Amino acid sequence: MKTKQQQLSSGVVGVVILIIISLFIFVPAQQLPRDQLSGNWAVRAPNADGTVRSTYFNLKQEGSRITGSIRLTQFYYLIKESTGGAEGFTLTASMKDGNNERTVRYEGKLIGDELHLTTRRRPEDKPTELVARRAPAGEGTLPARIPPPALHKVPDNGLAKTPPMGWNSWNKFAGRVDDATVRSIANAMASNGMKAAGYRYVNIDDTWEGGRDAQGNIQTNKKFPDMKALADYVHSKGLKLGIYSSPGPNTCAGYEGSYGHEEQDARTFAKWGIDYLKYDWCGARTIYTDEEMPAIYQKMGDALRASGRQIVYSLCQYGRLDVWKWGPDVGGNLWRTTGDIRDSWDSMARIGFGQNELAPWARPGHWNDPDMLEIGNGGMSETEYRTHMSLWAILAAPLLAGNDLRSMTPAILEILTNREVIAVDQDKAGKQGRQVWKSGEQEIWIRTLSGGAQAVAFFNRAKEPAKISNRWADDLGIKGQPRLRDLWLHQDIPWPGPEYSVTIPAHGVIMLRVSP
Ligand code: GLA
Repeated sequence: MKTKQQQLSSGVVGVVILIIISLFIFVPAQQLPRDQLSGNWAVRAPNADGTVRSTYFNLKQEGSRITGSIRLTQFYYLIKESTGGAEGFTLTASMKDGNNERTVRYEGKLIGDELHLTTRRRPEDKPTELVARRAPAGEGTLPARIPPPALHKVPDNGLAKTPPMGWNSWNKFAGRVDDATVRSIANAMASNGMKAAGYRYVNIDDTWEGGRDAQGNIQTNKKFPDMKALADYVHSKGLKLGIYSSPGPNTCAGYEGSYGHEEQDARTFAKWGIDYLKYDWCGARTIYTDEEMPAIYQKMGDALRASGRQIVYSLCQYGRLDVWKWGPDVGGNLWRTTGDIRDSWDSMARIGFGQNELAPWARPGHWNDPDMLEIGNGGMSETEYRTHMSLWAILAAPLLAGNDLRSMTPAILEILTNREVIAVDQDKAGKQGRQVWKSGEQEIWIRTLSGGAQAVAFFNRAKEPAKISNRWADDLGIKGQPRLRDLWLHQDIPWPGPEYSVTIPAHGVIMLRVSP
């Protein structure tokens, strides 16, 4: 039998043992470093062209508070809110982009020494899963800001007296464009009637870029082994080669931009034999405000001029800051007026019919650019593509085909090479057309051509055919009895009298040339 004292002391021993055990179990958990997430983390996604797309999470954890930045492709976000810690956390980060606030949200947890993350573009999307590993401190930091230069007027380069015509890789090939594709597209353009119809530029869009060499010279990636040889090849076909870059540290697809290397890149482009540059704002949004755009675009305008080569300069900043008002002053030959087009009726129609107010800003050498053509990419009917082509011609828009020129149907080729419609687009007076009449979903647009002629397009934006009747003089301001020619039927049409009644197919167009 144990004495009362013995019982008491063994009880105490038991409690002490329990405390020691629980210390082993609980204290380490409580003493887990509260800053395990701190540090620089990178998600590395290799591209097939030998480049790597890295996303950086530069984090500072103080207990349940996580601050820092997230940098990916053309974006740089600051973390505004966080919950949780290493065992499970959320990050909400945002950036100011012009007048917009962009927000991203990640959920993650630390597993071993890996951050396992998920994110969704929109709440209804399936989550994208990412794994970030520790990266050297400082890697992926935004470069220091270079102050924008003072504004001055860049002298006119004398190019693009009519809207540029050609092809661009993005709409069809995006990141899959490579040397072989560009060569075969040039072959097709030179031989299928497109060159004969006026198409000249073969433009490589984003994803040709590699890194920089020790001297800071921009390199191509594996997809483009020799840009000079490619330019020579395209030139040998009687065509011109275009390329793409960004004033930011990164392009929209996250490739190397021209930031801090503007003059050097312009010299490289000139040395390669480049004839056209599309310069896309993209990553510049991480360094500059929209108000600084003119100075930043002027920098490349000057650089192209200093390169000594005649290079068409295409501004791509999605029509912000009323670019049409200053585009010519920074050396621009054309400027995008909107966000990206998609291969759908809604996208094309929204952009194309939305250009009316910009007409006064277009003139020889300086064009509004409602984005590249989607004709032949499959998302619209032939009727809709005819509307696309007609509308772009009325708008004096650049005609940059965006389809696979090697494998298009005869119908698509015929749309792209309709010489009578192209003649409207390329009219040397360079006056952009305007909407002159609208009733419900039917619109009439007129473009004044040189020599007193006019292009008149009767559009039907409705899903059903529509009949409209208009008086030449009173509704359209067309006097006398001019000659009428249907530019899609390639036929003269007899004078119908003071009123013209037509039935326009759903989403279709009737386009006339009216000459004195
Ligand atoms: C932006 C441009 C597009 C295309 C892509 C390439 O979205 O507006 O036309 O150049 O970038 O990344």
